[in-house]
Amino acid sequence: MRFIGNKENLLNSIYYTLEQKNIKGSSFFDFFSGTTNVARFFKKKNYKVFSSDLLYFSYCMQYAYIKNNKNPQFKSILAQINTKRESLICSALDIVLEFLNKIESTEGFIYKNYSTGGTSCLRQPRMYFSDYNAKRIDTIRIKLRNGKITVYCLKKNTSFCCPA
Ligand SMILES: C[S@@+](CC[C@H](N)C(=O)[O-])C[C@H]1O[C@@H](n2cnc3c(N)ncnc32)[C@H](O)[C@@H]1O
Repeated sequence: MRFIGNKENLLNSIYYTLEQKNIKGSSFFDFFSGTTNVARFFKKKNYKVFSSDLLYFSYCMQYAYIKNNKNPQFKSILAQINTKRESLICSALDIVLEFLNKIESTEGFIYKNYSTGGTSCLRQPRMYFSDYNAKRIDTIRIKLRNGKITVYCLKKNTSFCCPA
């Protein structure tokens, strides 16, 4: 996922600039973290990463990518979707994704407001998401909201620190 102003294409330049200017350190603060691309990049470089943002969606991404240091086991979700892991090669994430990918697509809020198909009545239809992706986002959001899959309740507006 990308913002206007996303720094993904600048990551190597940012890193290169730090090296060129001999700026050393072991911690990195990604203020205005947004999609967390910058924080994730420096986490992979073994920095101790701090991040923050005003938006709740960014908080969720920071929780998943920056605070979290292990592959989630999805124990409660696996119990709810009542499926068995048939192979050791197949990860818990694979099973959850397979379950979510099989749910039939729905035309919901995201489709109706942020895709070309859903906004075709407008003079300038919106192109934030493809029709297919918008429907998949709606489908999974609705599934989460209806509680078939429960997610952890996250506190808002917290900064993270991930140990290097
Ligand atoms: C251009 S986007 C972030 C781009 C991000 N570095 C990336 O690569 O995805 C700017 C971010 O600043 C956040 N932001 C704007 N004003 C803020 C404020 N006063 N406090 C915290 N976050 C703020 C927005 O919520 C948005 O996520």
